[in-house]
Amino acid sequence: MMVSNRDRMIQYDDLHFPYCDDVSKYEKLDKIGQGTFGEVFKARHKRSKKVVALKKVLMENEKEGFPITALREIKILQQLKHDNIVKLNEICRTKPVNNAYNRWRSTFYLVFDFCEHDLAGLLSNFSVKFSLGEIKKVMQQLLEGLFYIHSSKILHRDMKAANVLITKSGTLKLADFGLARAFSQRNGQPNRYTNRVVTLWYRPPELLLGERNYGPPIDIWGSGCIMAEMWTRTPIMQGNTEQHQLTLISQLCGTICPEVWPGVESLPLYAAMELPRNHKRKVKERLKPYIRDAHACDLIDKMLTLDPSKRIDADTALNHDFFWLDPLPCDLGTMLSHHTHSMFEFLAPPRRNRHHHHHHHMHHNQQPSQAGGAQSSAGGVGGAGGSVNSVTQSSSGLSHHHQPHSSSSASQGRRHRAAAASVASMSTCPERIF
Ligand SMILES: Nc1ncnc2c1ncn2[C@@H]1O[C@H](COP(=O)(O)OP(=O)(O)OP(=O)(O)O)[C@@H](O)[C@H]1O
Ligand SMILES: [Mg+2]
Repeated sequence: MMVSNRDRMIQYDDLHFPYCDDVSKYEKLDKIGQGTFGEVFKARHKRSKKVVALKKVLMENEKEGFPITALREIKILQQLKHDNIVKLNEICRTKPVNNAYNRWRSTFYLVFDFCEHDLAGLLSNFSVKFSLGEIKKVMQQLLEGLFYIHSSKILHRDMKAANVLITKSGTLKLADFGLARAFSQRNGQPNRYTNRVVTLWYRPPELLLGERNYGPPIDIWGSGCIMAEMWTRTPIMQGNTEQHQLTLISQLCGTICPEVWPGVESLPLYAAMELPRNHKRKVKERLKPYIRDAHACDLIDKMLTLDPSKRIDADTALNHDFFWLDPLPCDLGTMLSHHTHSMFEFLAPPRRNRHHHHHHHMHHNQQPSQAGGAQSSAGGVGGAGGSVNSVTQSSSGLSHHHQPHSSSSASQGRRHRAAAASVASMSTCPERIF
């Protein structure tokens, strides 16, 4: 049978990449993200005009072909199907060419449904104001996503505001499964997972103390940090080192000791780390100036429980009064329709942590950068001894911060959504951040 050159080319392509289309069917629009793991672009399907996000698979350090970390991310994403988890549509590739640089190697892209915003971008834009009902909707969706992945025996291991996406219609999607892994529970043997996971500011105390037999509570801790950030608009505990992070945690959550956390004394780094003594737990007290809603403070308090075995789980959190008392969770679509441009951490003003020095290779440490400069180390609810630190509203960009609160403490009954939404009103926040 005669085969033309053109046919031969097509056959070559099909044989080598079945089910893996050429990325040139998309046109790149804007760059929207940059991680250690690779770049993320907004792109549009040339024919259907569907808008997607393309996440490049970084191959630079690979000698052994397709990176195992990306394979793990793809495998996990393919397994997860939920409205509050980002949707992976397909994997695409560039056409292999034989020049000095590429030598027949393709670049691969993960193709996701496009989400207009990430939570870090939204929180760093002070014209974006969340009502209490809207904050409830964000946290409810986040916890529903977590409940689903934990029920599917997956740990996210990189919870932070930049990894929480929100579509323009207000649907929240957990993203960035680059550090995620499957976990097993109670098979007799303790697990020995790496503890070099989770961006430092969102890292729970058990990981900082070297625990390797951890589980879903690590993601709940990060979610508690994110929940507080919905009001503070900046990460609450911005440590510079693992030791500093533990100090900030102790100052906010109280001294880490066997009395509140039985067994903590046998964690690998318990003796090696300096754990500040005589600190009372001050989570609610420190958050109160920012968060008037007592149920919100109570839920954050339970998510930031030091002992992971006592920390609230996603299911119990979803049943917390916070979500079931007036004002009820309300749709984010209307609020977001007032913002026509996308907001991403990558595109946000430079005072936020824009550069990420964490690594997706498990043996490396993972930390957010300190692009915020001086205020990064001073910032956070864990400030020493209850004293206010040097970060003023204006220097931290919080001068126009508003926080929602219930106008009447008597209004605890259930109401219609519309009525509930109107209960949330605005007031200015106190002079200084923690
Ligand atoms: N589906 C998407 N829609 C819109 N934006 C996205 C999407 N996926 C990722 N992004 C944007 O790109 C950023 C980086 O993506 P992602 O977190 O998956 O990659 P990463 O390389 O692991 O990043 P990092 O190292 O910063 O955590 C996200 O914070 C988000 O702003
Ligand atoms: Mg990320």
